[in-house]
Amino acid sequence: MSTIIYAHRGASKLAPENTMPAFELAYKHGADGIETDVQLTKDNIPILIHDEQLNRTTNGNGFVKDITYDELKQLDAGSWKSYHYKDTKIPTLDDLLAWNQDKQIKLNIELKNNIISYQGLEDIVCQKLGEYNMAEQTVISSFNHDSITRINDKKINIDYALLTGRRNKALIPYSKKIKAKGIHISYRLLSNRLVALANDNKLYVAVYTVNSSIAINKAIHLGCHALFTDIPKLAIDIKKRRFA
Ligand code: G3P
Ligand code: MG
Repeated sequence: MSTIIYAHRGASKLAPENTMPAFELAYKHGADGIETDVQLTKDNIPILIHDEQLNRTTNGNGFVKDITYDELKQLDAGSWKSYHYKDTKIPTLDDLLAWNQDKQIKLNIELKNNIISYQGLEDIVCQKLGEYNMAEQTVISSFNHDSITRINDKKINIDYALLTGRRNKALIPYSKKIKAKGIHISYRLLSNRLVALANDNKLYVAVYTVNSSIAINKAIHLGCHALFTDIPKLAIDIKKRRFA
């Protein structure tokens, strides 16, 4: 099977990360899927944003967890990237799932709960995926491995994977134990040996964040199940050329 190309936070090199324009552009560029980060507002609305604080990617301040959805809706999440995207809003998980109804591209929902532990985040995300009938094409991931373990405990039919940026000998045995489908690793950790070891243990390997032709080619060459890139068009073109 050829490597799945996930647009990392959407087509985030060109459009403001984790916004609908970035998802639209990823789709237009032919990405197989979208990776996005989910957190909860003060009133428990799942929204798509990478940082725990609003400062970098919006004109707001403070923590996501301390702001209500009504307050968050007022923020501009596009101008920091370019004037062209002025007044782009932070999307909710519902916005993404509704948008994907007629597209049905793959989703990687990353639970951004490794710094702030949002209580009930796993349940809220799984419930939404059920509501929109979108569990089948989704994989959930997190750097918070306890959170992924909680999803396993629920015995629901959804794929999940452990995320890591560090070397960790326990990663593969632990992933197996909690019945994860794969491991999502930093490109720094990618090696032939690790892919072979993971595959021997019936785990796939997905790699983040690969934005150069060399890195994209290496991920494909080593047989990664998936890669995450800010430039999906580049990866899709490379994949097409390799399999032409
Ligand atoms: O899910 C892959 C990647 O997004 C993990 O790192 O910090 O970009 O969310 P980060
Ligand atoms: Mg992410």
